[in-house]
Amino acid sequence: MATYVVTGVSRGIGYAFLGLLSRDANNTIVGLVRNKPTTDKKISEDPDLKDRTNIHILEADVTDYDALKKAAADTAEITGGSLDYLIANAGLVSPLDAYDPIGLLYDSPCTNPPPRADKPKEVDETLKSLFNVNVIGNVHLYHLFLPLILKGSAKKIIVISSGLADADFTNKYDIEPGSLYSASKAAMNMITAKFSAQYKKDGVLFLSICPGMVEVGHYKDATPEQLQGVSGLMGKFLEYAPHFKGPDTPEQSAQSVKSVWENASIEKGNGGDFLSHYGNKQWL
Ligand SMILES: NC(=O)c1ccc[n+]([C@@H]2O[C@H](COP(=O)([O-])OP(=O)(O)OC[C@H]3O[C@@H](n4cnc5c(N)ncnc54)[C@H](OP(=O)(O)O)[C@@H]3O)[C@@H](O)[C@H]2O)c1
Repeated sequence: MATYVVTGVSRGIGYAFLGLLSRDANNTIVGLVRNKPTTDKKISEDPDLKDRTNIHILEADVTDYDALKKAAADTAEITGGSLDYLIANAGLVSPLDAYDPIGLLYDSPCTNPPPRADKPKEVDETLKSLFNVNVIGNVHLYHLFLPLILKGSAKKIIVISSGLADADFTNKYDIEPGSLYSASKAAMNMITAKFSAQYKKDGVLFLSICPGMVEVGHYKDATPEQLQGVSGLMGKFLEYAPHFKGPDTPEQSAQSVKSVWENASIEKGNGGDFLSHYGNKQWL
């Protein structure tokens, strides 16, 4: 029997975590979402989840500190004051930098091919949004739920990261797109390592885990031009991982990531680690 808080369970990998973790009726799952009525409706219409009384949905945008604080208090009521696992899954993926190298966001004479537009204002806004959700929101989340985790048995705090935040991978394969998003994920990896540095002695395992490449519909609105950028990226992914057959389903990814956090421990030296869904540094 274990208690879990998972953010961003409205869709994608978070919804798959909700399904996977609630399969064991002895577990208690608290899912945080931005729109509770929409998620409640989705669950009530899902034949697999609708009768699971161990699912509790709370409303909290991770950029809203007061809402997170209330969610922590409400979680304590639900679980009896402790928490085993905090899964910081909610994340913002920015379309602005998803397809293009960073230089193409600016009207610079140095870029070849020529830039599509000059977007300094959009870069400014996107970076702020990415850091608000992917970094600052999670710093508050860790802080507010830590008292419950310290009273739990498993004492594990996991952030869902991305292999795109690995600078060695970026440098070796010249992975150009996703610069702003990757920066926010890299920043959160470091925050996670710093929390680990402080709280390892209290028995709390902090981990950053990349879920692999997962099909959640992120490219469904891409233009043909943008899809060209995606296929270039896929070419590099294949060079890096010739075995790569394409994205996992959210369900496959949730299962892999869960295995990684279950196998990892402070005793094995995993405190603060940044791992893939294989439990190592192989991102695909
Ligand atoms: N899919 C991949 O290939 C991949 C690869 C590497 C890493 N990841 C990471 O995996 C995690 C899950 O992503 P996904 O692929 O499942 O993407 P997704 O389908 O876009 O889901 C993102 C989730 O985050 C929630 N969210 C976004 N902003 C939020 C905010 N301000 N407050 C609270 N919740 C917020 C969304 O809620 P709403 O429904 O309210 O928008 C949604 O539930 C993310 O951290 C992502 O960066 C994904």
